[in-house]
Amino acid sequence: MKLTREQAAAKIMVALDYPDAQSAERLIAELEGIPCYMKVGMQLFYASGPKFVESLKQKGYYVFLDLKMHDIPNTVKGGAGSVTKLGVDMFNVHAAGGKAMMEAALEGVEAALAGSGLSKPSVIAVTQLTSTSQSTLNDEIGIAGTVEDAVLHYAKLASAAGLTGVVASPVEVEAIKAACGTAFQTVTPGIRPAGAALNDQTRIMTPGEALRQGTDYMVIGRPITAAPSPRASLESIIKELIEA
Ligand code: C5P
Repeated sequence: MKLTREQAAAKIMVALDYPDAQSAERLIAELEGIPCYMKVGMQLFYASGPKFVESLKQKGYYVFLDLKMHDIPNTVKGGAGSVTKLGVDMFNVHAAGGKAMMEAALEGVEAALAGSGLSKPSVIAVTQLTSTSQSTLNDEIGIAGTVEDAVLHYAKLASAAGLTGVVASPVEVEAIKAACGTAFQTVTPGIRPAGAALNDQTRIMTPGEALRQGTDYMVIGRPITAAPSPRASLESIIKELIEA
């Protein structure tokens, strides 16, 4: 089934990897009117915080707050409550924090929603960072087996905890959907349109390929933010998704 323009745009999460609100706002002004998701990570959030997130929501954007919470359950519960009150549409926690920690995040969401009129954010788990190599996993972190084994183990744990989905490489989507069901969502960085610079990403797919794998959302940063025309780049990715 073909995606509409709105559906295609809503699958694209533009990574606002900027040091301050002013720099991010220049990009947002260029993309005005395109109904994409905006991803706010720790660099921008630690600098410009809740006010910036609120301004994105006022402009009507979906917001993924990528803060990768990882702490004791009670602290994550509190953090989840605070970001829910900001009105974000999605945020994430590390699956490595364990099932009780992920469940505490959901409890924090529910407690913050009670009587608030806010809509419920999706809670997504980080499995293994894409920067984690086989030797980092085995020799430094001390987890045996392949990176894919570890990703699937964490995806199943996140699913059992009741989370919405996981962040993963597009090459892992098929195995995650097979293990956790097609409704379990995947959010995939490592997306590069044909001909775009790889930068530091290694296991990549084009937007069309990632969509065909079944990815639900794709996080795209530099192919849009560092393009000569970010707007033209985003429009061409939307077109690729509609045609895929
Ligand atoms: O510029 P680029 O498209 O590589 O940006 C990818 C975005 O996705 C960045 O914000 C990066 O922090 C994020 N990300 C990633 N790999 C992960 C998790 C998040 O590249 N495993």
